[in-house]
Amino acid sequence: MQPIINKQISNLKESATLFINQLALNLRSEGRSICHLGFGESPFPVPEPMQAALRENSWRKQYISGCGLPELRQAIAGFFKSEFGYNYSFENIFIGPGSKELIFQLVYLLEGPLMVPAPSWVSYGPQAKIRSKIFIPIPTDFKKGYRLQAEELEKACSVQKFSQKILILNNPSNPTGSVHAPDELRDLAEVCRKYEVIVISDEIYALINFGKQAFEGIANYYPEGTITTSGISKAFSAGGWRLGFAMIPDDLKEITRPLSAFVSETFSCVSAPVQYAVLPAFDNYWSVKKHVELCRDIHGAAGNYLYQCFTEIGLNCPEPQGAFYLFPDFENFRDKLTSRGILSSEELSTRLLEETGVALLPGSDFYMPKDFFGVRVASVDYNGTQLMQDFPESGELTPDLYRSLFPGLTEASERIEKWLH
Ligand SMILES: Cc1ncc(COP(=O)(O)O)c(C=O)c1O
Repeated sequence: MQPIINKQISNLKESATLFINQLALNLRSEGRSICHLGFGESPFPVPEPMQAALRENSWRKQYISGCGLPELRQAIAGFFKSEFGYNYSFENIFIGPGSKELIFQLVYLLEGPLMVPAPSWVSYGPQAKIRSKIFIPIPTDFKKGYRLQAEELEKACSVQKFSQKILILNNPSNPTGSVHAPDELRDLAEVCRKYEVIVISDEIYALINFGKQAFEGIANYYPEGTITTSGISKAFSAGGWRLGFAMIPDDLKEITRPLSAFVSETFSCVSAPVQYAVLPAFDNYWSVKKHVELCRDIHGAAGNYLYQCFTEIGLNCPEPQGAFYLFPDFENFRDKLTSRGILSSEELSTRLLEETGVALLPGSDFYMPKDFFGVRVASVDYNGTQLMQDFPESGELTPDLYRSLFPGLTEASERIEKWLH
């Protein structure tokens, strides 16, 4: 029998990040030497207090209320209040199997078009597509580090006929490593208020902010319309544990009933041992803080190192301030690339992988024009456990130390340079 498949799903291709990861791993297993700058997985171990709590709670087998363990939701509300000044009531916090799933459920549940800055994370577009939602990538400016500006948002909102609009703002950003400045968030908040925009502030990288200014989220300026999502995959290196959360403001409380029903009819609840294991991260942050901050500093060093390497080669690249990504472009080499028959970022990344063994992702997967030579680079191709031991306490690194701490990143940038020149 020929199965008839929902077109919205059968037209989806596999997530670009998971695809490139598998391809790079396959090539490695065939013996090819691969510099894997394609996949954004934290290379560090999960903090020991969380691992210990997971072992201690492995006996737990009951379902937990769909919204999540009350102690964990309370701990998360308290943590985000003390760390970032957010005022979410714990009753409005949902624990899900990763923030990706909760973002999906929110996108599914809320009416109105979905706007994102371009470039933005690969999964927002397909999630909108599954729901047949209008998806609007808003062009941003390299000179502003691709951070969405109020005028750009205003322009996109002013031509929309739907009264309600959704904006996903990922801060710090995957793919650019940019972090919004407080005055930019204040200006964006004004536009959101004016045009009735519900913001999903994806703050999965909030604790990996290594720039000069303290992290702030748009919830600090637009609390009534901001749903903040985050989780444990990045700062706590526990992506495979699958736990994330969404925090809904009191003004949008009406979302909580249908979201509870949606959760109960889909994933039911997140694994009970995992929910207990995540408790120390938020109600005892001091027990994991040193670990998280050391990882953040190493991410910062890796990002800054690659930024220096790329700019020396002649690539344009915004300086990363957070997360573990960079978004360089090869526009300065346009003539050379076109003469080699490379006309799109997809061809650029395929040829780079084939001819140099450097795996990275094409900018077109991040909603940039196909013929723009931008690529997304993940700066985590190193042994995190080893680096936690070797990283100097002062954080001060000489050029030689950079090279010896990050041999994979050094090798990748040298291969790209050789290929280009
Ligand atoms: C921007 C962004 N948002 C959300 C996620 C999903 O995180 P989680 O593991 O909580 O589903 C990722 C993971 O790569 C991400 O990069």
